Amino acid sequence: MHVAIIMDGNGRWATKQGKSRVEGHRVGSEVVRELTIFASKESRVKTLTLYAFSTENWKRPKHEVEFLMRLLGNYLDKELDTYLENGVKFRAVGDISKFSSKLQNSIQNLEEKTQHLTSLTQNLALNYGGKDDIVRSVKRVLKSGDEVSEESIEKNLDVSYPIDIFIRTGGDSRVSNFLLWQISYAELFFTNTLFPDFTKEEFLNILNRFETIHRRFGGL
Ligand code: FPP
Repeated sequence: MHVAIIMDGNGRWATKQGKSRVEGHRVGSEVVRELTIFASKESRVKTLTLYAFSTENWKRPKHEVEFLMRLLGNYLDKELDTYLENGVKFRAVGDISKFSSKLQNSIQNLEEKTQHLTSLTQNLALNYGGKDDIVRSVKRVLKSGDEVSEESIEKNLDVSYPIDIFIRTGGDSRVSNFLLWQISYAELFFTNTLFPDFTKEEFLNILNRFETIHRRFGGL
């Protein structure tokens, strides 16, 4: 199954503890590592797509954007062994051309070194927007001369396979321009847990709840 997560609530988690917002992102990155390892061992999960930076996140204060960029770069450089040891293939999805060349190099390096791995594919959404994904896909279709159809648009999306489980932490019930096309038939799970408090036990609980749902895909 393909699971997507909006990792919301880092800032509030930190503020509640009297810490600076960015401390929430740092702890959030540790939760990303834990969930990735867990998902690589959970045979039902084949793909995990995580929202790390949206096309709208550039609007945040400069120091928070800079911190997130540094955190991402360090994470990608430092966690290579975690990906290799757990068989996780890394892919960045989104328009990464807006990032520094150093960060783009870290992304490409991790993609190359993990491209053969098969226990789990982890898509990290970076400068990603669901509307932007669809626009860029349609542009690719037109450029290729193919007919515009559901199949050709889907094939050219950054994430070209449907989501089964969509999770948002942090208490809001919004999709926030995440994988708009790909969640057409996803089951949506909203939890009040702030992302730094989100555990593999809660993740497992959602996977188990998902299995009890009868999905009809518009049929009976
Ligand atoms: C939303 O919380 C979270 C983000 C905008 C960034 C998500 C980033 C991480 C979880 C860590 C970085 C990931 C990696 C892989 C290194 P928020 O800041 O909107 O929280 P709030 O709603 O409480 O303000």
